[in-house]
Amino acid sequence: MTYFFETYGCQMNKAESARFESLLESRGWQHAPGAQTADLVLINTCSVRETAETRVRGRLGWYAALKAVRNREKNAKNAAFPEAAVYAQENSGALTLVVTGCMAERLAGALKDEHPEVDYVMGNFQKKQFARIVQAVENAAFYQLGAGEPFDFEGGEFAPHTRGDAGAYVPIMHGCDNFCSYCIVPFVRGRETSRPPASVIRELDFLSRDGVKEITLLGQNVNSYRFEQCDFPSLLSLILTHLEKTNSSIRWVRFLTSHPKDLSPRLIDLFADDSLSGGRLCRHIHLPVQHGANSVLGAMNRGYTREHYLDLVRLIREKIPDVSLSTDILVGFPGESQSDVEQTIALMREARFEAAYTYYFNPREGTPAAILPNQIPLEAKKERLARVIDAHLEISRQEMARRLGKDALVLVEGVSRDNPHEYIGRTEHDGHAAFASPRHNPAGGFVTVRLCELTGNTFRGKIIEYTE
Ligand code: SF4
Ligand code: F3S
Repeated sequence: MTYFFETYGCQMNKAESARFESLLESRGWQHAPGAQTADLVLINTCSVRETAETRVRGRLGWYAALKAVRNREKNAKNAAFPEAAVYAQENSGALTLVVTGCMAERLAGALKDEHPEVDYVMGNFQKKQFARIVQAVENAAFYQLGAGEPFDFEGGEFAPHTRGDAGAYVPIMHGCDNFCSYCIVPFVRGRETSRPPASVIRELDFLSRDGVKEITLLGQNVNSYRFEQCDFPSLLSLILTHLEKTNSSIRWVRFLTSHPKDLSPRLIDLFADDSLSGGRLCRHIHLPVQHGANSVLGAMNRGYTREHYLDLVRLIREKIPDVSLSTDILVGFPGESQSDVEQTIALMREARFEAAYTYYFNPREGTPAAILPNQIPLEAKKERLARVIDAHLEISRQEMARRLGKDALVLVEGVSRDNPHEYIGRTEHDGHAAFASPRHNPAGGFVTVRLCELTGNTFRGKIIEYTE
């Protein structure tokens, strides 16, 4: 039998989809080249923005049409070849459509009412029941989903990893307690729970046996990880020591997402301690600031000030000189003034981000910010965003230019889509680097590249050394 996935949203969704894929593959399922022929389609959804949900609704309309065609084909087959009817019934030829993720959690039954073509709406807390759905599909039966259960990492016996991929996401915590006033995540992912360290280490050993080169530890707020006495810096040093001791294939360790109010000096010290990290900890920190004005940060309920954020950036730069910083910036929050936007741009100039995910505020139903007064008109939000993007492009170009002429270790991703004569890969600092090479460079290998020029956001360079 065959499956096809569509995954939207954050890395947590990607990790969970990869875990579902491992489960299907372990039962002998195969990846279908497209949804048209698949026996099971899983859509892993995101609710963080209205547009993400609208897109999924559009896709569901398409699937409704596909299911109608598939059913017609099945009936036609039955009529023309009565002996095939038995086959068609056994292998119903039908398409089972599963919608999971944050939109499924948020809308639950309402989504099924709105889209009867969906066979299963599986909320975030019902994901452990996916194996039962698969079993039902295999037996041409139907499984009645049970109630949601508390999130349980131990329940995930399959690694979130697609065989052959050089990188893997490793969830270490789930949920969020912060309730930023614009964010839907605490409502669709629930409260924070942290994964036992032993379970994380077991997964790393599995990934290492699979030859994985890079892992990203995942959580909505990794800095508030806590399992009994073990906090995030302790978990990270445990992981780094373990990888070193076991001579693991995992050479790069990243983590996502950090919250500025919880990122501790102890964590920063880990980067500086080369004896501990063995150079495995990538010197890149994604530290979403969201805004540069204290009044807006307060209204967002972010729990820090611009001064705290900039102090943190100074400490990071002092202790980790070659670090690259990236961020998220949200403009057009209710009540934001022109001078608030200027403060945001001033903060960006001081913090000097190499990369930034910039977006404008869109109210999410059910969050406090959706009903705040002084909503900013769409045109003004767009204009403010354009100014922020312009400032960011100028800063990031300057920051990236500082790396020109230097040698960088690059994890090869494969042949460049833009130029079949070039390979593309990622640097430790999370930059893209393209390079020509006289010899074949399989994805997942490391090479040292001298960064010679910049085209847009991509470095162009030449090979200095084939490292592995
Ligand atoms: Fe949402 Fe804030 Fe939690 Fe991030 S920290 S997931 S923005 S509530
Ligand atoms: Fe979206 Fe849910 Fe992730 S809302 S960003 S998929 S936690």
